[in-house]
Amino acid sequence: MQTLKNKIILITGANRGIGKSLVLAALQKEAKKVYATGRDLEKMPDFADPQVVPLTLDITNPEQIIEVAKQTTDVQVLINNAGILTAGNILEGALNGIQNDMEVNFYGTINMMRAFAPILEKNTPARIVNITSIVAYSPLPSIAGYSASKAALYSATLSARIELANKGVTVHAVNPGAIDTDMNKGNDWEMPSSDEVAKVILDKVENEELDIIPEDIGLGMFNAWKEAPAKLADIFHKIYHNE
Ligand SMILES: NC(=O)c1ccc[n+]([C@@H]2O[C@H](COP(=O)([O-])OP(=O)(O)OC[C@H]3O[C@@H](n4cnc5c(N)ncnc54)[C@H](OP(=O)(O)O)[C@@H]3O)[C@@H](O)[C@H]2O)c1
Repeated sequence: MQTLKNKIILITGANRGIGKSLVLAALQKEAKKVYATGRDLEKMPDFADPQVVPLTLDITNPEQIIEVAKQTTDVQVLINNAGILTAGNILEGALNGIQNDMEVNFYGTINMMRAFAPILEKNTPARIVNITSIVAYSPLPSIAGYSASKAALYSATLSARIELANKGVTVHAVNPGAIDTDMNKGNDWEMPSSDEVAKVILDKVENEELDIIPEDIGLGMFNAWKEAPAKLADIFHKIYHNE
């Protein structure tokens, strides 16, 4: 087990939701420094801790990624948490919503991995932690673009895992089901808080788990998929058609 104590961690989308909770969980783990990045620093909470260094970063802006990478050459753990979700199905959903989800969740995150891989290779043992989703395994058609972007990201995560395997950089995928954040507003499922889930994610990273399902809704869906992929597709069929 490799603890996160004294590690230098960068988190994207750190101003709210799971990202903010990951900053707090990293401080609880006694990280040495946490780069809390977000699109707008005015929206960044005051973490009231000198170990937290806020930085402006929109992951769809390649110049900003390069600028941030220049300022954070000591990073040992990169947590790609930033993401968006646009509702809409494949056949009638707005195409630009699907494109936006791909732009942030897939291209934004792979650009982060590409910029930081050389830094992490110098700061081994190092890690990349990509927050994907349970819909990476099987799509929920009401959020079809999001599902496709997360499936693409999960695939990129598995590629990077193999590419970096002999370079001292471990690549984790986190595939949650449902967590109580702004992304799930209006959903009346019983969901865990982002604070609870962030702690579980970091515990499982320390335990070297590569594919992390950090909460029960996701775990139920993952176990159905593991039994037979059609079983998870059937769960999503019932949700989509309100059966
Ligand atoms: N909540 C769930 O049930 C759930 C389940 C599975 C996976 N996930 C994934 O977990 C991650 C965090 O989600 P969340 O639930 O915490 O959602 P959230 O509350 O909506 O927070 C999303 C975060 O991503 C940031 N972000 C969006 N676009 C960005 C960009 N272009 N550059 C940088 N930051 C950007 C947002 O910043 P702004 O405040 O500036 O918009 C915000 O900080 C996402 O990748 C999401 O897909 C969530």
